[in-house]
Amino acid sequence: MSNSPFISNCTADAIRNAARALKAGHLVAFPTETVYGLGADARNPEAIKRIYEVKGRPTDHPLIIHISSLNQLDKWAIDIPEYAIKLARKFWPGPMTLILKRSEIAGDFVTGGQDTVGLRVPSDPIAQALITEFEKISNSAIAAPSANRFGQVSATSALDVLEEIGEYLNEEEQILDGGSSTIGIESTIIDCTGSLPRILRNGAVSKEDITIELKINVIEIGVSPEIRFSGSFEKHYAPKCKVIIDKEVIVGAGFLALHDVETPPGMKRLAAPSTVEEFARILYSTLRAADQYGITSVVVFQPSGQGLSIAIRERLEKAARGR
Ligand code: TXA
Ligand code: MG
Repeated sequence: MSNSPFISNCTADAIRNAARALKAGHLVAFPTETVYGLGADARNPEAIKRIYEVKGRPTDHPLIIHISSLNQLDKWAIDIPEYAIKLARKFWPGPMTLILKRSEIAGDFVTGGQDTVGLRVPSDPIAQALITEFEKISNSAIAAPSANRFGQVSATSALDVLEEIGEYLNEEEQILDGGSSTIGIESTIIDCTGSLPRILRNGAVSKEDITIELKINVIEIGVSPEIRFSGSFEKHYAPKCKVIIDKEVIVGAGFLALHDVETPPGMKRLAAPSTVEEFARILYSTLRAADQYGITSVVVFQPSGQGLSIAIRERLEKAARGR
């Protein structure tokens, strides 16, 4: 790619241009509060095909459609249960994706041929502005997976996106730079097609948040065989380095733990986050940095407890299984 694809100053003009690029069938990577997304027009099969090419992802693997607000929900989904509306009212805009029965405008090419659709309203201001502008000019919304090559660690900055997929983008395609993602791990995915919500992927909206704040019962993670999602692939969230969870002391290896855990002798401290939120925020960039330093093994002491810690452990367990 010849020109720099970065748009750092996301003015109203820049957002309008990006929305026009989407309308013309090009890809636009954009920040969200969870991780960066690689966006395309959710109703344009050719544009969606490009997402799969650039990501190197199998086409039966569905994409999340990003909408500007709850008001857009019944455009893309039908038979929406009452509890899904409650979830949306409480946690949107935010780090939560709902799986619902799709309407007829959510095509096979974006749902992986399933009769459900993943929908999310992100809170990041640039994401909000872009989706809103695009909806205005298109009568569509933005389908976007995480902006990384299939199976790799998600991108939490514009530079990460460039490193992951920059070489595959064409001159019309761009990366909107909104700084580092404030949450740092992907959204909670909740299957809303049954009589109770079921968490398919843990994230910053936790089971406890839902049961305590909304008094709704939630089914523990259980992946039905007909549902395909990120976490169901073993090699997901895997950096180049080997990730080793807890306990082991390996001289020369990288080390990541909360700040109150001392660095074992002979190990290279990569980060010392002081809270679980910070742990989530720096997790992927730390693993990327280890790869850049040529560190081949990273030992991670996982945060304990519920909530966001569960989401972090879920990512680490997958990363530890390797590629
Ligand atoms: O935080 C996030 O969710 C980020 C940002 C960009 O929104 N997106 C993201 O997308 O993580 P992706 O594609 O990397 O992971 C979303 C997962 C996919 O693996 C997909 O299989 C699952 O959500 N998914 C999407 N639609 C689905 C559906 N209809 N049924 C089951 N799973 C679905
Ligand atoms: Mg992903």
